[in-house]
Amino acid sequence: MTHQVALITGGASGIGLETARKLIGQGVTVVISGRRQEAGDAAVKELQSIARDGAQARFIRNDVTDEAAAEAMIDQIVSEFGRLDMAVNNAGISNETATIEGSDSDNFRAMIDTNILGLYFDMKYEIRQMLKQGKGAIVNLASIAGLNGMPWAGAYSATKHAVAGLTKSAALDHAAQGVRINGVAPGAVRTDIIAKQLEGGDDNYNEANISAMHPMNRLGRPEEIANGIAWLLSDEASFVTGHILSIDGGFQAK
Ligand code: NAI
Repeated sequence: MTHQVALITGGASGIGLETARKLIGQGVTVVISGRRQEAGDAAVKELQSIARDGAQARFIRNDVTDEAAAEAMIDQIVSEFGRLDMAVNNAGISNETATIEGSDSDNFRAMIDTNILGLYFDMKYEIRQMLKQGKGAIVNLASIAGLNGMPWAGAYSATKHAVAGLTKSAALDHAAQGVRINGVAPGAVRTDIIAKQLEGGDDNYNEANISAMHPMNRLGRPEEIANGIAWLLSDEASFVTGHILSIDGGFQAK
């Protein structure tokens, strides 16, 4: 992977940051994007300290809900590094644990803007650049909730089903053009997104219950997701496109 260039949206925390650590440790130059400058600066400092083979780390302040900013971000990456080999569309939110009838429509709109439209904007300009190169690999963050119904998370689940649809359709659009597009569907992973849900959720929504949803009876670790993402991005997965890889402690096998 040495001397390649990757973008990871929402890369200053959780699964995105863990993926950035994995890639830069393999000599990949990593651009992380996000809304918070301070978190981005701290992540870049850490990433630069573990970089191999001259790889570089950069942060671009970017909100995925802004289409013009998505185009400008890809232009900025290409003008500094000359190319974009890999992209991980990871930025996402889960802002409510509620039944459909008890949920707030504004929360659903915010999840549509970030999880669906935001991912679509980034993917669009990433693919345009990769087509110019004749090569590229994209991984989108879906979820077990993107492959199955999920009680108390209907709106989030709907947005992650959309991610699976966008991933598979885009993969078909570009399968013969050298651009591979896959997704990962993690089970519950110990990151901020889950911590916030555990704080704000119903009494029944606790760590023991969430763990018990997974046959391995535990939450996942960010590095377990990053390992799958890095494989899908690598040439080892050269005949894999349109696949949603479950990394979920056995959840999908039930
Ligand atoms: P996280 O909250 O640490 O990471 C999400 C990142 O996206 C954060 O850095 C956040 O600031 C960023 N972000 C949110 N809205 C943004 C916006 N409008 N513009 C730019 N950046 C934005 O949580 P985690 O767990 O690392 O989540 C990463 C992805 O994995 C998300 O798409 C999430 O839905 C997905 N996922 C997470 C699971 C979990 O259990 N942690 C399970 C399945 C999927």
